[in-house]
Amino acid sequence: MGPFARALLASSLFLLSSLVAGLTSSLQQVTNLPSTQNPTNAGFFYYKPTTVKTNPAVIVAIHFCTGTAQAYFTGSPYAQLADTYGFIVIYPSSPNSGTCWDVSSKQTLTHNAGGDSFGIANMAKYAISTWGADATRIFVTGSSSGAMMTNVLTAVYPDIFAAATVYSGVAAGCFMSSFGGVDAWNSTCAQGQVSATSAYWAAQVHAMYPGYTGGYPPIQEYHGTADTTLFPPNLNEEVKEWAGVFGYNAAAPTQVLQNNPASGYTKSVYGPALQGILGQGVGHTVPIMGNEDMKWFGFVAGGAAPPKGGSGSGSGTTTSGGGTTSSSSTAPPTSTSSSSTGTPTGGVAQHWDQCGGQGWTGPTVCVSPFKCTASNQWYSQCL
Ligand SMILES: *[C@@H]1O[C@H](CO)[C@@H](O)[C@H](O)[C@H]1NC(C)=O
Repeated sequence: MGPFARALLASSLFLLSSLVAGLTSSLQQVTNLPSTQNPTNAGFFYYKPTTVKTNPAVIVAIHFCTGTAQAYFTGSPYAQLADTYGFIVIYPSSPNSGTCWDVSSKQTLTHNAGGDSFGIANMAKYAISTWGADATRIFVTGSSSGAMMTNVLTAVYPDIFAAATVYSGVAAGCFMSSFGGVDAWNSTCAQGQVSATSAYWAAQVHAMYPGYTGGYPPIQEYHGTADTTLFPPNLNEEVKEWAGVFGYNAAAPTQVLQNNPASGYTKSVYGPALQGILGQGVGHTVPIMGNEDMKWFGFVAGGAAPPKGGSGSGSGTTTSGGGTTSSSSTAPPTSTSSSSTGTPTGGVAQHWDQCGGQGWTGPTVCVSPFKCTASNQWYSQCL
């Protein structure tokens, strides 16, 4: 590591530790969630300020790949915000080696069928039954793998969550494993090569909770244009997915707001329940917009998410947004191929290509001057 990188790391560590300085309480753990409710044994950590509101709201804040509950507790602003606004934060901790969340197995992608999503849903239920949390104000957010899980929870447990914010994820179901793999990495999706219609994605979401007739949580989707871990086209797939569920037109935002919620970001509003927010030049780590989250979750005035919208498959067509989806086709997604992907030629991986990771059989050498850089144990990339 060069001196510049070391200085960067040191300053970001300083930033992290400063986020937990001066809190009224500390990170605690619940260890008695039975395995029937938490079959994958995901860690259940929480932050409860010394003083919370009566029937407090809850934010479930989900860590990134290689992360932990502790890392997200110290590295995100939610504990400090909990002190200010009197809510409880639940920090699930991934049980998987790696440690990314399982967003690929049939179990985790099906309502009440098990997987990591089931355990997290039951942590939220525990907060309601044990701490008297307000069942109508359970929110969910996360970064990267935690952002993927946020989309999954919004799709699989729409009955539990009131609203969601997603920092650099993929559409719910996009990491679906063709061989049923638990916590499997999906390079096709990660590299932004999965493209489907709104109707297809909405059908996927409805299939994750068949017979559900209620509304779906309003959702904000953040992504950076310079994301080389989960490529930028993933934002469009997320937008198409939820536009399909809410009955909006993913191709025609009703409003496009420049430099919102921060300089360099463009917020596209597709209807009251869906916003796509693109950060120009921002990489995989989109900084968490704590104040914007507080607005979206209704703790602060000015931009609160509406009540749940759209409807489940059990009640016919979705009409709440008044828009139309861009296509009625439910054809399976297409994988777009580009010259830099597909069967490797010459045994040398190009810039941005995968060059390693568990199960990888392609080239492990990068074209000069790029270096094979591990994102996690499943995925290395020429950067
Ligand atoms: C990756 O996900 C897509 C759907 O998003 C799926 O079609 C494909 O089979 C998955 N790949 C693997 C290796 O599971």
